[in-house]
Amino acid sequence: MESLREILERIYREALDSLSKASTQREVQEVRVQILGKKGSLTQVLKQLGSLPESERRETGKKANEIKKELEGKIEEALQRIEEKEREEAFLKEKLDVTLPGRGLPLGRRHPLTQVLEEIVDIFNHLGFEVVEGPEIELDYYNFEALNIPKGHPAREMQATFFISDEVVLRTHTSPVQVRTMEKKRPPVRIICPGAVYRCDSDPTHSPMFHQVEGLLVDRGVTFADLKGVLTAFVHEMFGKETRLRFRPSFFPFTEPSAEIDIECFICKGKGCGVCGQTGWLEILGSGMVDPAVYQFVNYDPDEVSGFAFGMGIERIAMLKFGINDIRLFFTNDLRFLRQF
Ligand code: DAH
Repeated sequence: MESLREILERIYREALDSLSKASTQREVQEVRVQILGKKGSLTQVLKQLGSLPESERRETGKKANEIKKELEGKIEEALQRIEEKEREEAFLKEKLDVTLPGRGLPLGRRHPLTQVLEEIVDIFNHLGFEVVEGPEIELDYYNFEALNIPKGHPAREMQATFFISDEVVLRTHTSPVQVRTMEKKRPPVRIICPGAVYRCDSDPTHSPMFHQVEGLLVDRGVTFADLKGVLTAFVHEMFGKETRLRFRPSFFPFTEPSAEIDIECFICKGKGCGVCGQTGWLEILGSGMVDPAVYQFVNYDPDEVSGFAFGMGIERIAMLKFGINDIRLFFTNDLRFLRQF
């Protein structure tokens, strides 16, 4: 029969063997339980020590305790070895190549019309104009009537109108916001109004939906000289200080007198070319002194106040600025076109 001593040695060898094979902390813990647990093999031996004859008890007891100590150390070692190994594996798995080039984020940009609009708004903000807005679905009254364009007036025929009903239209220009603003506010008034407008029209220079910026300044003692000063400052900011411009007499039902502003054609420098129709000039906006007839609709007293108004097409200005020959390019959203701005 195997002596306790022999059993102890076998337990020790087998334990070392199991520990060397263990590859997880859990496996090591299992070995610990098998040997040192309540019902562990070494624990069993220790319990049997009492049945040994006095002479062997001491020796074997000593041996058993040595082996127990020894194994406890080995178990601790095995745990550390495995922990170290697991940490290394985790490092490898989480390895990060900091030299790898980053993935580029696709960068958007503002639409060319937005860029031009923001530039226009910025210039007038610096001149003290406040931005206001009005509805795109508008009453006939604001779009025409209160702008001194009564029913049957030839000016109505000039703007091919989308009618929603007899009295409701898609606004054909931003001028109705002049009336809406003056209804709400007493002078001094100094506003610009950017927004979409609609006309039943479509060709390389006309789109059924396009954008305008309207301007209105009303105060005591405003003269045509103020109109010229403000709009000259605008043209110089927008197109450059050297840009020549001219005020050409014109007609609008809601201004008197009226003027259109032309800038010198920057393609031919005024000599005459295809872009300017051989005139050397490019029309960029309409303007004039607010007609006293309009003041009647908003209860302003034309003997007390005076003012000027102006309106410009944003697409037209963008086309001139960027040399774009077809207005429809703004709305087809071809990225090859849009990326150029
Ligand atoms: N509303 C005019 C149009 O769409 C442009 C215009 C001309 C606006 C003269 C004005 C102005 O405020 O004074 O053709």
